[in-house]
Amino acid sequence: MQLLKERILTDGRVLSENILKVDSFLNHQIDVELMNEIGKEFYEIFKDKKITKILTAEVSGIAVAVMAGLYFKMPVIFAKKTESINLDKDTFEGNVYSYTKEKQYKIRVARRYINNGDQILILDDFLANGEAIKGMNEIINAAGATLAGVGVVVEKTFQPGKQMLKDMGIDVIALASVSSMKKGYVEFED
Ligand code: G4P
Repeated sequence: MQLLKERILTDGRVLSENILKVDSFLNHQIDVELMNEIGKEFYEIFKDKKITKILTAEVSGIAVAVMAGLYFKMPVIFAKKTESINLDKDTFEGNVYSYTKEKQYKIRVARRYINNGDQILILDDFLANGEAIKGMNEIINAAGATLAGVGVVVEKTFQPGKQMLKDMGIDVIALASVSSMKKGYVEFED
């Protein structure tokens, strides 16, 4: 997506060899017009997949998924990262390993919001190690629903997530594919 790549080049900041800061427009302050275009683009890519629900993980995936949800006219569910008294006890769970915190945590969705007839589109902001998407896929499997597609705004192809998911039979479509980064420099796959 050309508009997104241009924005990454102008406003993205490479913090280290692995972290691309896009918090001026994507995951802290949000440029709603750009996010609208992102939602529309995901709709164009996945519109023939008979999507019934969009699944993401809190926090940063929510804006992406909501914008796409407006085009699909389908509900958006976000998996929760913390257990709370407000969340139904009856949940589907997925496991996510956090490389930054070096520990495993669970993401959860109340059982009442996914059922075995659902065709689910997973959307997220970043694909790095693929843990979040793997965890969401576990939730879909636990519910007996179907994974109909996976889209991310930015993937970093030099990190292991894309290949790990591919090996599991999960293809991810990214709106921007970053193949390498250095301080002050971002290279895209195409
Ligand atoms: P994964 O999501 O592919 O499993 O990757 P990983 O475990 O490496 O990512 C940990 C968190 O860092 C995720 O957010 C992910 O979206 C985010 N992240 C990964 N790479 C980048 C990057 O280059 N830039 C930025 N800005 N974020 C990155 P999270 O912990 O789930 O947090 P949030 O959704 O609550 O913000």
